[in-house]
Amino acid sequence: MNRILTGDRTTGKLHLGHYAGSLQNRVKLQDEYDTFIILADVQALTTHFERPELIRKSIYDVAIDNLSVGLDPNKITMFLQSKINAIAELTVFYSMLVSVNSLRHNPTIKTEAKQYGYDDLSYGFLGYPVSQTADITFCNADLVPVGEDQLPHIEQGRKIVRRFNDLYGKGKVIIKEPQALISNTPRLIGLDGNSKMGKSLGNAIYLSDTVEEVNIKVKSAITDKNRISIKDKGNPDICTVSKYHQAFSRDEYENICEMCRNANIGCVACKELLSKRINLILEPFRERRAYYEEHLGEVGDIIVNGSERANKVGNEMVESVKKAMSIYIS
Ligand code: TRP
Repeated sequence: MNRILTGDRTTGKLHLGHYAGSLQNRVKLQDEYDTFIILADVQALTTHFERPELIRKSIYDVAIDNLSVGLDPNKITMFLQSKINAIAELTVFYSMLVSVNSLRHNPTIKTEAKQYGYDDLSYGFLGYPVSQTADITFCNADLVPVGEDQLPHIEQGRKIVRRFNDLYGKGKVIIKEPQALISNTPRLIGLDGNSKMGKSLGNAIYLSDTVEEVNIKVKSAITDKNRISIKDKGNPDICTVSKYHQAFSRDEYENICEMCRNANIGCVACKELLSKRINLILEPFRERRAYYEEHLGEVGDIIVNGSERANKVGNEMVESVKKAMSIYIS
């Protein structure tokens, strides 16, 4: 069985954007692949090092978000990044094989640096694609299902692996070159029309939101601003709600757009349709969430057991890496 590895930083609860772009896909893939899910708490430190208590809480939030959408703890290996020694060790070895310049030119690093307002990047932040390469390769993952923003990191990782194998492999592949598996769903924008969805922007629907929270948030979404009266014809191309229908009401999408264009449906009714759809998707998640929230010990066990398995795999990997580099003593 081929292996996939993917996961999230533990910097807060996951939202519908995560679901549409990634979690939905994970649930499908878990039956076909040996699925490793990383709770990236070390990577979370690269931006949230001053908020360790938030990271600690988010470990449980993100774990439960993943379980609530239907990832099966009996099938997957969910583990905590900071518990995996191999990731820390490989990060150090890999850091010799990547230039500071190539990290500085990584487009995602550049965008994120701007977003966080860093004009003076920390060494850890600049280097997180290196540590992410360790996240992926410590278990020799074949595929990495991620959003498009992560592509530069995967590419950077592939280069590191190629360099490692060329330098130390003596013709053999010590570390597998991972491949990105990009989800084909378009990135979900914020309810306010902002291209990014996020906690700090207050424009996201969380997987843990209640029916009422979803209804209130959808009501506040920005639609076609030129449509003032229900009699005005709308333009779905510039409407946030339409983007959400495209993602979550696929079978009705064309129909809804047409009704909007002909002024056969008003924004209020259109939003009600959307809230219903979203709540229908979230309903089964809410049930599983309620179970895990009452059984936090079980969630802890899932992470501890997953980390144990990941450590076994990782320790073997580090052994063969060190051997290849001839830095061992026997
Ligand atoms: N960087 C990813 C994100 O921000 C999270 C992540 C950490 C990850 N390590 C990973 C994703 C390894 C895929 C593989 O969403």
